[in-house]
Amino acid sequence: MENKNNIALIGFMGVGKTLVSNMLGEILNREVVSTDEVIEKNQGMRIVDLFNEKGESVFRQLEKDLLKQVVARERIILDCGGGLILDPENWEILKSNFTVIYLMANADTIYNNIKGMKNRPLLDVESPKNEIMRLLKLRTPYYNRAEFRVDTNGKSIDQMAREVIKIINERA
Ligand code: S3P
Repeated sequence: MENKNNIALIGFMGVGKTLVSNMLGEILNREVVSTDEVIEKNQGMRIVDLFNEKGESVFRQLEKDLLKQVVARERIILDCGGGLILDPENWEILKSNFTVIYLMANADTIYNNIKGMKNRPLLDVESPKNEIMRLLKLRTPYYNRAEFRVDTNGKSIDQMAREVIKIINERA
């Protein structure tokens, strides 16, 4: 049976998924699971070190294993790492067990949100802005498969959370 009382926030790095998830958790009194945070805690290392020391494929497997574990839970808000939806099996799991909401932002917004941060291994390149544009173009069709979308450009975390709540309420 479908269990769509679980909510998943997807979208590119730096759009605000974690902050919005935490705010939603407080307002709706729901448990928040951040895939990145759980992986960091379980592995005892930061994502950036995990990428450097064990490689991205190990990280992707941990991400998939975690998704399979959390799917059995009820009423959670899942803060998905930005690349989680690229895996076809992950997408099938999300689609059938979560209300999937895409937090959308353009490359300028994303760049402004993450510039100077050193915690995104995929953007640790000479021109992060170009890499954001490249990856965003590649990934947008995947993100667009979400049932709902919130345009986050120029919005505060509070406004984004309220838009998500509106979606959830209208869906209920
Ligand atoms: C990634 C996004 C990151 C993290 C890892 C890879 C990606 O999560 O999972 O660095 O492939 O987009 P955030 O979207 O929370 O930054």
